[in-house]
Amino acid sequence: MNKLALGVLASGRGTNLQAIIDACGEGQLPAEVKVVVSDVEDSFALERARSAGIPAVFLAPGKYKTKLEPEREMEYVECLRRHGVRLVLLAGFMRVLHSDFLAAFQGRLMNIHPSLLPSFPGLKAQKQALERGVRYAGCTVHFVDESVDGGPIILQAVVPVEHDDSVDSLSDRILKEEHRIYCEAIRLFAEGRLQIEGRRVRILGRGEKA
Ligand code: GAR
Repeated sequence: MNKLALGVLASGRGTNLQAIIDACGEGQLPAEVKVVVSDVEDSFALERARSAGIPAVFLAPGKYKTKLEPEREMEYVECLRRHGVRLVLLAGFMRVLHSDFLAAFQGRLMNIHPSLLPSFPGLKAQKQALERGVRYAGCTVHFVDESVDGGPIILQAVVPVEHDDSVDSLSDRILKEEHRIYCEAIRLFAEGRLQIEGRRVRILGRGEKA
């Protein structure tokens, strides 16, 4: 089987990126990371990419804090296309993407979020969960659409909240599950087993035709 070409967008330390690189390298995923792009020049995610021999590209985001300037956004699209990327993965990429980007990668753009969506979208999801007093937190992999953290859900994992949890301890436990379900979602995509039906994603059985 041809390997699925991945492009990863990351703003920070890049542990999800690392889990994906490792899973590809160990042959657990029929995929290969072709390029890592960041809006933060000194992000550790870029360092991880360089260490793995993967093209690591910093693209300036422009003047906004929470989104990319439109011309900058097209540079991201062009870069991903130039590297032949089929599936784009947001892995701690902290900027909202807009319609031109979404149109370029329609149905081929995933995000990981550290909560059981639709609860606690946006920033500091683990802190929101602790402060709200939920008994179960977790993480979600979803396709990206125009909404913030609101696209069709692919996979979720549940993590119990302990009474003495801090934001850090809860985040660490959630992160382990993030690494697991992100790789699983990529594998399902690579196998052609994800079918978007409105707000829902159907997971096809092995060999089942869409
Ligand atoms: C992860 O917890 C990811 O779910 C979160 O940022 C962290 C990045 O960690 N993403 C969001 O909150 C997006 N709304 P990493 O850089 O170690 O992968």
